[in-house]
Amino acid sequence: MATNRTFTMIKPDGVESKNIGNILQMITDAGFSIKAMKLTKLSVEQAKVFYAVHKERPFYMELVDYMVSGPIVAAILEKDNAVADFRTLIGATDPAEAEKGTIRAKYAESKAKNAVHGSDSDENAMIEGEFHFSKEELVG
Ligand code: TYD
Repeated sequence: MATNRTFTMIKPDGVESKNIGNILQMITDAGFSIKAMKLTKLSVEQAKVFYAVHKERPFYMELVDYMVSGPIVAAILEKDNAVADFRTLIGATDPAEAEKGTIRAKYAESKAKNAVHGSDSDENAMIEGEFHFSKEELVG
């Protein structure tokens, strides 16, 4: 995957609160194009692998349990400077600290239930995108 791509998930709270449409609208309004997308549910094993970087952190098992608690929407997004611009669009991890107008400020409930994931580097964007999608599922 090229470095103008990032990977996102609308997390279980974003789906449960019926904000899939609102969040996708904000993403496309910000200039991202959707190159792959699916509604899916992570297994415990998938969530553990996806968040393995956090496995020593105290919130790890809570995070895994939460991420398998309901469906998510996974997507690969494209735009110049995708990783950094998407992190700006979603806002800080804790919605109480997220800039006004960001996705998390608008739709997240808490630091754990924070509506969306966004990759934190080009390398992770590629790893995460490939974790969720085969080449055949990507358009363009
Ligand atoms: P992190 O990678 O630090 O944040 P971000 O999603 O903004 O890149 O953490 C990954 C996820 O772990 C975060 O989105 C929500 C969860 N988390 C907690 O539940 N509690 C915490 O104290 C932190 C730091 C993260």
